[in-house]
Order: sequence, then C-alpha cells, then structure tokens
Amino acid sequence: MKPLAIGLAGFGNVNRTLVELLQRKKNELRDRHGIEWRITGVGSRRIGWRVNADGFDVAELLGARNPGASSGWRGQECPRYTDWLQAAQPDVVFEATSLNVEGGQPAIDHIRAALDHGAHAITANKGPVVHAYEELRELAARRGKQFLFESTVMDGIPIFSLFRNTLPAIEVKGFKGILNSTTNVILTGMEQGLSFDESLRHAQQLGVAETDASYDIDGWDAAVKVAALVNVIMGVRFPPQKVEREGIRGLSGEAVRSARKSGMPYKLVCRAQRTESGVSASVRPEQIPLTDPMALVGGTSSIIQFETDIFPGLTITEENPGLYATAYGMLADFIRAVTP
Ligand SMILES: NC(=O)c1ccc[n+]([C@@H]2O[C@H](COP(=O)([O-])OP(=O)(O)OC[C@H]3O[C@@H](n4cnc5c(N)ncnc54)[C@H](OP(=O)(O)O)[C@@H]3O)[C@@H](O)[C@H]2O)c1
Repeated sequence: MKPLAIGLAGFGNVNRTLVELLQRKKNELRDRHGIEWRITGVGSRRIGWRVNADGFDVAELLGARNPGASSGWRGQECPRYTDWLQAAQPDVVFEATSLNVEGGQPAIDHIRAALDHGAHAITANKGPVVHAYEELRELAARRGKQFLFESTVMDGIPIFSLFRNTLPAIEVKGFKGILNSTTNVILTGMEQGLSFDESLRHAQQLGVAETDASYDIDGWDAAVKVAALVNVIMGVRFPPQKVEREGIRGLSGEAVRSARKSGMPYKLVCRAQRTESGVSASVRPEQIPLTDPMALVGGTSSIIQFETDIFPGLTITEENPGLYATAYGMLADFIRAVTP
C-alpha cells in the first residue's frame, strides 16, 4: 500500500506531539489498520511552507527547534499555502495553527483549500468549527472527504464522535462543565498558594495554554468550546460572541483560597441550555458546592455533563490529560477518515 501523504499546517505543541504519536503508533497503524504514512509538507509563518515529496525524516523534523532554519532540514519552500498543497499532495491535512476567536482565519482557508484539493481535513483548531462548520461540512461531503475536529473540545475525548456515531436521534437539551484547562490549572495553583502569574507559567510549561493566554484567562477559549458544542451537537448556529462571558482576571488569590476553605471553590463554569427562542450560554467563575462533581475537577482535568431527552445526566470526566490526549483525538480522526 502506498503511504498516505500528510501535511501539517502549524508546527507547535499539538502538531509536534501528533508527529511523536504517529511515530509511536507506527506499527500498530500499519498492522491493525493498514495505514502507512509519510509527512510531505510542514508549514507555519516562521518555518515557511516546506515540502519533501519523499517524506521528511521524522527524527530530524522533531529535533529541529526551527526546522526552516536548520541545515539538516531538506525540502523545498513554497511561497504560498496553495502552492504547498500542490507540491506536497497531501491525502490528509492536520490543521493546528493558533486560535483566532474573531473570524477563525487563516485556519478556515487552510481547511477549505485542503478539502478543495481532495484531502481530508483534521483540526484541533476551534475557529473553523464555530465560524464555518456548515460550509466546511458540506464542502467535505461534496468532495467525499472528512472534516473532523475531535480534539477541539476536551482534547481527544470522544464527544463529537459519541453523538455522531453512537447516540443517533438523541436531543441534547443542554450541558454544563469545566472545559478550559489553563484557568483550571491557575485556580488550582492559586488554591495551593501560588500567585496568578506563577500558576499561569505552570500552565504554559504544560503546553496547555493558548498561544495568547488572555484567550484562556478572559474566558474566550471556553466560550469558543461552548459555541462549538452548541453548533455541532445541539444543531444551533451560535457564534462565540453570543456566549455571556466573564473570565477569571477579577479573582484574587485570597478570594480563591477562602472559597476553597469554605467548601465552595471557584471554577470557570461553562453552561448552555435550550430555551424557547434558541439557546442561552455562559462562561463565568462560579462557586461550586463540594457535592457537585465539578468541584473535584482540578489541574488540566475537565468535565462535561450533558442533559438529553433520553439520559437526564450523561457525564464525561477527563483526568489530567497532557498533549498526547489532544494528539490522540487527531490520530483517531485520522484512522476514522482513511479507513472504510
Ligand atoms: N495545546 C493544547 O493543549 C490544545 C488542545 C486542544 C486544541 N488546541 C488547539 O490547537 C491549535 C494549536 O495549538 P498549539 O498548542 O499547538 O499552539 P502553538 O504551540 O502556539 O502552535 C501554533 C502553531 O501555529 C502556527 N501559526 C500560527 N498562526 C499561523 C498562521 N497565520 N499561519 C501559519 N501558521 C500559523 C505557529 O507557527 P508560526 O508562529 O511560525 O506561524 C505554530 O507553529 C490551537 O488552535 C489550539 O486552540 C490546543
């Protein structure tokens, strides 16, 4: 079987970890799923849009801090993303550029062009899901390709595929949960006596913070995740700007510690509920009683509880995921996309 050609748009924490995971699972992918792969394109603003039609050397790729500048790095540089697609001829594009809350660009253009080119498009970037879900889904269907995004919410935990594949004809009435790791790491750190800045640095060291961490702190990342869930599993067009949003900037260390001491810790809580006129949704710091499972979710862990017409409460908890969890969601999407 001819190895599938992979294109990586963005080469930060997520796509680098994905490459490590692809390498680690190489034998399993080949032996159990019949998938062989090679990376023919890698690109970002600093790296440029680089192509090696024979496949980049993975160890070299992962070893190079700035692959574009590294002498050991072979490959031609293309002037534009579309030229890169033509030269790299990817069967699958993994889009993991930084989140753009306002309009979802340039990730939407990357995915649109990848699908137009005839590649599957797999992304960890929430922007395209909240700003162009219907268009990209329809384009993928017309092209006979897949547009998949399992890693956009709760890392690699199967949420979208749970509803798509195993809960047909169910109605999601609403959900609540903790969906932003960075603020949860910060609140947990502050409860333990760290300052806000020290806790933020810890989240950044873990690689879970957004490129621009104010997206996390001001509740934007959480609001975008809420909007993605409302758009996809509740079937209601809902831009992130419609989510009522308050971040954790206003919380002092003392307030966070005394809330925990009183048995009502602060959490950045996401909520969405169907109403007569559509959906209402919010992200804000709330004090949660210790009897609520949300109060027990610390660090990078996350939780979501769905209310459906069949299951009144369906809860998924994810404990202390790292970047491999996000990369795994993309790997699972890859297998789903390329196997019958
Ligand atoms: N980290 C996580 O735990 C996690 C979990 C789930 C989802 N995500 C999502 O995954 C995506 C990537 O996250 P990350 O942690 O890998 O971020 P990151 O480490 O900051 O990497 C972002 C990559 O995107 C590239 N990039 C940014 N803007 C670009 C542009 N306009 N054109 C081309 N390349 C561009 C950056 O390189 P240049 O600066 O050279 O362009 C960099 O290679 C984000 O959308 C994030 O929301 C992350």
